[in-house]
Amino acid sequence: MNNWKNFVSEEWNRRIASRPQDPMKFPLIDQTFNAEEIVAVMDVVMSGQLTMAHNVREFEKVFASHVGAPYAVMVNSGSSANLLAFAAAANFQRKNHLNVGDEVLIPAVCWSTSVWPIFQMGLKPIFVDVDPMTLNVDIGDLEKKITSKTKALLAVHILGNSAPMLELMAVAKKNGLIVIEDTCESLGSLADKKYLGTHGAFGTYSFYYSHHMTTGEGGMVVCQTQEDYDLLKCLRAHGWSRELSNKQELEKKYSDVDPRFLFVNMGYNVRPMEIQAALGLCQLKKLNEMNSNRVFNQNALVNAIQSHKKWDHQFEFIKAAPGTDPVWFGFCGLLNQKYANRRQQFLTYLSSAGVENRPIVSGNFVRQPALQGLGLDLKPENFPGAERIHKNGFFIGLHTNKLTDAQLNRLADVFLSFEF
Ligand SMILES: Cc1ncc(COP(=O)(O)O)c(C=O)c1O
Repeated sequence: MNNWKNFVSEEWNRRIASRPQDPMKFPLIDQTFNAEEIVAVMDVVMSGQLTMAHNVREFEKVFASHVGAPYAVMVNSGSSANLLAFAAAANFQRKNHLNVGDEVLIPAVCWSTSVWPIFQMGLKPIFVDVDPMTLNVDIGDLEKKITSKTKALLAVHILGNSAPMLELMAVAKKNGLIVIEDTCESLGSLADKKYLGTHGAFGTYSFYYSHHMTTGEGGMVVCQTQEDYDLLKCLRAHGWSRELSNKQELEKKYSDVDPRFLFVNMGYNVRPMEIQAALGLCQLKKLNEMNSNRVFNQNALVNAIQSHKKWDHQFEFIKAAPGTDPVWFGFCGLLNQKYANRRQQFLTYLSSAGVENRPIVSGNFVRQPALQGLGLDLKPENFPGAERIHKNGFFIGLHTNKLTDAQLNRLADVFLSFEF
């Protein structure tokens, strides 16, 4: 009967139990798979159906319903999700589409593949400063940068914290801008009681390994209209007509072409595999619990640090924007200004104490050398909020299981034993 499932589960549990545990190590993320994920993957492999099929469709359906979006399209990474969202927004078949040369507002603290699709579509990124205390876009600076060429804005929700969505959506409405939300770091966070990623025309998510839920590699784009849903599905798979709602109409219109191989748009191949969707289905069931544990760990760690005998405001903790409920991705902070420029020493110290750490995303992105090659030579000092984050920001992992008091106390002790 289902003996193989029991066998696989037992073997997985045996391997997990025998993995060496080092209490002195604090990795970016804990173990989020259990036997259910392993059995689901084996089931797909043994079915022989590896390419996109019913698991992907099912995962898209439950994901859309989880975040409250009308449509969801799964892809092979969060980067592909960003690429597809911009490709759809700039596609010649979209009624209201972006044109070559249009300006797109983007926060200076973002990820590389938040920016590259803007260039790849022939659009121009206009960097906007961020508020260092929320890590997210500064609305005042954003409004100043709107010109007659501004046609879209990309909100990049950083480390689980939301961009100020209410103000941002009001500005977008007033100026007729298309809003894309890069929600790759913020699955589960809310603004105005609504999931991030569902406020704008498109929302993108990443299921890379340390993110709120994981499929190893994987991503999702959600959208609000049938028009965008059709475009995303078509662009995901070669520009094919196969998944379009008006497929029959198209087949009739182009009856001289084999209907099985009818290409009606330009496109990519960024399809996910069934294995990723099977993992996604298992992980999504646990997402709420993992997220509430992340929030618990965030609050408990702030408490442990602030009640430690060595606490002397060595850090500033990041704040949620008004009206938002973050599910933190990492435990992040800024070194107090007094310790400006000591961040690298601090991070090296954390690593030597076994605490895996990162800068805040990629720091002030206008400092990244690739931009110069692309014709943008911006002055970092014109982005003082992003500079503060670049020089003083850090994060460590937030685990999906509740931390014990011993773990919390050790982490607080490690943080505050640095020689400030
Ligand atoms: C804000 C943001 N956007 C996009 C991505 C890209 O996602 P992926 O690694 O799944 O391609 C990441 C990756 O961490 C990210 O942090």
